[in-house]
Amino acid sequence: MKAMIINQYGKVPMRLAEMPMPKMGEYEVLAEIHAASINPVDFKMRDGKVKLLIKNKMPLILGNDFSGVVTKVGAKVTQFKVGDAIYGRPRKSKIGTFAEYIAVHEDDIALKPRNLSFEEAASIPLVGLTSYQALHDILHLQKGGKVLIHAGSGGVGTFAIQLAKLMGAYVATTASEAGADLVKSLGADEVINYKTEQFQDRLQNYDGVFDTLGGKSLETSFQIIKSGGKVISVSGLPNARFAKEYGSGFIKTVLFSAASYKLTKLEKKHNVQYTFLFMKPSGNQLRVIADYIECGKIRPVIDRVFPFEDAQKAMEYSEGGRAKGKIVLKIR
Ligand SMILES: NC(=O)c1ccc[n+]([C@@H]2O[C@H](COP(=O)([O-])OP(=O)(O)OC[C@H]3O[C@@H](n4cnc5c(N)ncnc54)[C@H](OP(=O)(O)O)[C@@H]3O)[C@@H](O)[C@H]2O)c1
Repeated sequence: MKAMIINQYGKVPMRLAEMPMPKMGEYEVLAEIHAASINPVDFKMRDGKVKLLIKNKMPLILGNDFSGVVTKVGAKVTQFKVGDAIYGRPRKSKIGTFAEYIAVHEDDIALKPRNLSFEEAASIPLVGLTSYQALHDILHLQKGGKVLIHAGSGGVGTFAIQLAKLMGAYVATTASEAGADLVKSLGADEVINYKTEQFQDRLQNYDGVFDTLGGKSLETSFQIIKSGGKVISVSGLPNARFAKEYGSGFIKTVLFSAASYKLTKLEKKHNVQYTFLFMKPSGNQLRVIADYIECGKIRPVIDRVFPFEDAQKAMEYSEGGRAKGKIVLKIR
């Protein structure tokens, strides 16, 4: 099968290669991939920046989410049959969606939302699950709760705004002028132009911040949270609590604890809980998300669709950091 691979970590372009068909486990389905989306984790993995959290073997097929059709099922698969249209985010040891086929555990996929094309469906799994786990599982966002979502016009932000509105929250978001109309159309109640304004001057007493930027934006976010609130980041530093939950060994726990020392101090100062989220695959949560999409409560936001052979161009476009919504690869 054709796949986009790297042979070593570093800023080397992916290349199209002929790879063996994936071997299937008894709880896995073989999916013919129709579309995949580009996520910043793809170039972070390529650069070796996620090595502390995920170990990959070379050559590595990149790509972390997809949509497609089941062509074979393993002996113990109970939830899917040949011909099912699916979408999913494979577990971290089994990534590789920039390819014609993938073997994926049945617990990591769900039926594709019926009202979406394959390209639209492929744009959802990673950002949808990330947003759901942040806003639902960790923040437990309530009706009337106030949340700030950073980088509202990005892949994660465009999904998270819609989900937070669906959960009944009041949503503030940071975006430039170029993304302002888009985030308003998704339901954002308040838009802070991050190029001309400081969000901490305008927002106070928030229940939660969902941060996708890390660095200074993350640290400043503690200032706008009410006592007992939560700051969740997918781009900040993992802390000791994360290391424990993730089952990292002693050395990594000490490393994470030292690296996140400033955030731990901010947690104490503001009486706010800081959580580093490393999203997990979940077919069950993708089913919930498919329901929201089929009811018309959440829609995909796609910036550009690239043909498979232009995957490297698509990756470079993602690295530019200006996408409004998602970047998708059409594979079939
Ligand atoms: N830990 C996890 O499990 C996990 C899961 C998902 C994502 N992530 C991480 O989350 C981050 C965001 O992912 P993504 O897919 O949303 O990225 P993305 O789609 O590439 O984000 C691009 C968007 O960010 C906006 N932006 C850039 N700088 C900004 C700023 N200072 N303030 C407000 N908006 C800004 C840009 O708007 P303008 O062009 O208008 O500036 C653009 O629309 C990535 O670092 C990714 O790796 C982590």
